[in-house]
Amino acid sequence: MVHEFFRSSILLTLLVICCVQVQAASSYINEFVDPKFIAAKQFDIRTNLAGITILRWANQYSKKGPWSVTNSTVIPPSGDRHDYMSWMSNTWPNCTAVNNVTLTEENKWKFCPYVHRIETNPDTVNVNAASVHAFNDLANAVLYNAIGSVIARINNDAYSRSSVSYLQTWFLDPEKRMNPNLNYAQMKRGPKGQLGHYGGILQLRAFVKIASGILILRESKSSIYTPDIDQGMIAWCNQYIQWLRAGVQGARESLSVNYHGTFYSAQLAALQLIVNDRQGAINTIDAFFNSKFMNQIDSTGEQPLEWNTTHVQHYRTLNLGALSLVRMAKYANSTSNSYWNKTTSQGGTIQSAVDFAMTQALANNNSATGPGDLRHLEPLVAAAASTFGDPDKKYETFLLQADPTYAQKPYFFWNQPLSGGSSFEDHNGKNGTGRPRAVNASGRVGEFDGIGRLVLLVLSSALAIELLLGP
Ligand SMILES: *[C@@H]1O[C@H](CO)[C@@H](O)[C@H](O)[C@H]1NC(C)=O
Ligand SMILES: *[C@@H]1O[C@H](CO)[C@@H](O)[C@H](O)[C@H]1NC(C)=O
Ligand SMILES: *[C@@H]1O[C@H](CO)[C@@H](O)[C@H](O)[C@H]1NC(C)=O
Ligand SMILES: *[C@@H]1O[C@H](CO)[C@@H](O)[C@H](O)[C@H]1NC(C)=O
Ligand SMILES: *[C@@H]1O[C@H](CO)[C@@H](O)[C@H](O)[C@H]1NC(C)=O
Repeated sequence: MVHEFFRSSILLTLLVICCVQVQAASSYINEFVDPKFIAAKQFDIRTNLAGITILRWANQYSKKGPWSVTNSTVIPPSGDRHDYMSWMSNTWPNCTAVNNVTLTEENKWKFCPYVHRIETNPDTVNVNAASVHAFNDLANAVLYNAIGSVIARINNDAYSRSSVSYLQTWFLDPEKRMNPNLNYAQMKRGPKGQLGHYGGILQLRAFVKIASGILILRESKSSIYTPDIDQGMIAWCNQYIQWLRAGVQGARESLSVNYHGTFYSAQLAALQLIVNDRQGAINTIDAFFNSKFMNQIDSTGEQPLEWNTTHVQHYRTLNLGALSLVRMAKYANSTSNSYWNKTTSQGGTIQSAVDFAMTQALANNNSATGPGDLRHLEPLVAAAASTFGDPDKKYETFLLQADPTYAQKPYFFWNQPLSGGSSFEDHNGKNGTGRPRAVNASGRVGEFDGIGRLVLLVLSSALAIELLLGP
């Protein structure tokens, strides 16, 4: 009996190893994964491989944590280790005028004027690792572990405990917590750079992922996400919202009209959802779509406000990523008209912008040489396909070209159905005609049926083994 069990376990493990490619977790620009969709647990069997990847990513991110701003070895100008601090990575000191042979590092940061150069100043790396990069990893860990806590068939509590403990360390633990302000985000340094730059607010854009994670824990009634922790998060976010709205940096960032402005609204709406201010979130999103958005996309689908001499495609994709707002809007008010169809004053829509960015990505074939922009576009293309359908298979073709294993990616899990059928937002209907395409073990596209379906069933049992490894 036991012998049999081990033999089949080994077989199943091998199956998982051969069929699900182990790839390092990547960080999507932004994602608001509908908490109701996750909590409803109506998952298509064809998304099982993507589900396994979500659990793997949860584990991979967990290995990097926990995170705390107090990990930084450099004390912020306030003298308070709990203040978040990051430095503009391409600014360098010019100490000519200070002319002091015994200038300490700390005095250099204070007294030498800093000037921009192309290259990254290596002394920013550790400081930004404990702030910018830590926060992004934190957000991914919170989100994937929260989803994991619902989709894992065993050991679920380990995932929710991870998610919750990362929130506690970063936001609530008196020894480790971050103060709810960004006074020192994106500092230039030098005599005129002791206060952060308003653009630094963008660095907490992953609050959208954190909100999604928290709402998943709430909607799934996790007992590990206790009322105490919830109250703590609400209090923290309320203070930070106040800082965002009252401070000079927040006021200035809120005026930005390009991706900075989109992310400002997305971040604010995410915070409002965390503090249970649904109406506030709706107002934030409505205001965005009725003002800034109206000038962001032209009749061809181009986003002229994102033009930048060298990385146009990068900024196009960033702004599209920020438009996860559209999904927060639907969550905040499920009876509202969807903003997916909102048309700008020049006749553009989110879909036309996705189509345009997709064409540009293919034309410039920047998958190998570009800064990963093709990769960053994939979840957005999947979102468009799941919302509007894919009658001429242009989205599916793009995804296959960008990544033949896309059906194993987390975004495949929550962007169903990818090809045709009822829209993502109609998931409660549950009987959509969508026939999501997926990639079978031999790497070709095909719907799972017959043997494919059998393999998938075996694989889904193998999920249990994957889960035994736990976070
Ligand atoms: C950062 O802080 C956390 C929480 O105190 C700690 O567990 C972790 O080891 C620290 N990481 C680093 C790289 O110092
Ligand atoms: C450094 O500062 C001095 C004067 O303080 C100035 O003359 C020089 O041009 C500056 N160098 C650079 C590279 O900015
Ligand atoms: C300049 O050097 C003196 C010692 O020669 C030191 O006491 C002082 O703190 C230095 N000033 C700065 C700004 O580093
Ligand atoms: C967009 O508009 C079309 C036509 O009115 C409608 O059929 C579709 O459901 C809308 N899509 C979304 C996502 O709102
Ligand atoms: C979905 O369910 C509704 C109501 O039960 C039914 O009218 C409709 O035909 C179904 N659609 C599909 C595609 O099965």
